[in-house]
Amino acid sequence: MNANKKKLAVFVSGTGTNFETVQEFILNNNVNGKIILLISSRQDALALKKAEKYGIDSCVIQQEDYDNIESYTNEMLNKLEQYNIDYIILAGFLKKIPSEVIKTYKWRIINIHPALLPKFGGKGMYGIRVHEAVLKTGEKETGVTIHFVDEIYDNGAIIMQQRVPVQPADTPEVLQKRVLAQEHKILPRVVQFLCDDKIKVQDNRVIIEE
Ligand code: GRF
Repeated sequence: MNANKKKLAVFVSGTGTNFETVQEFILNNNVNGKIILLISSRQDALALKKAEKYGIDSCVIQQEDYDNIESYTNEMLNKLEQYNIDYIILAGFLKKIPSEVIKTYKWRIINIHPALLPKFGGKGMYGIRVHEAVLKTGEKETGVTIHFVDEIYDNGAIIMQQRVPVQPADTPEVLQKRVLAQEHKILPRVVQFLCDDKIKVQDNRVIIEE
């Protein structure tokens, strides 16, 4: 491994298809970064098995296991420091990131959200609920947003968005699948830009120097 490669941690709560897609992209392309740590908020996340398959270190950090937010936060910070992590990728992580972690890793945490933020974001807006809400309001298009993480859910500066059409016959599940396919296309690209230092922020606006 190139000593200068960016050290990446991926946070998950479930299946980890985005994690897997980024890892496959890194293995098959010349990316200046490497996933060296997977943190799961759940013991039963399928993503943990995927990490094992790739030989990537993983751990479970569940908030319920800690007496208070400080010890939970410290556990997370210690792990990240132990691995000397440069960037954190939230790929289906359903817990709020403690504010100390957000402060310590300012402009170094990204999240992927399955809608065109600021629409259909915020607390409780995750998974199939997002797509149900999109269909309920009769939107003609939805999409994917990748953004930096700040203290407010789904609020940070937007890095990249991809539109996805809504079809008349869509069910939430069908729409979710179409959106997920686009997530898998843009997340590896953003990770590559990040690792190449091509993502700059000016006045809270993100500029990608392609
Ligand atoms: C994705 O839809 C992502 O946008 C959202 O959670 C889902 C995770 O899917 N934040 P997976 O675990 O990567 O398959």
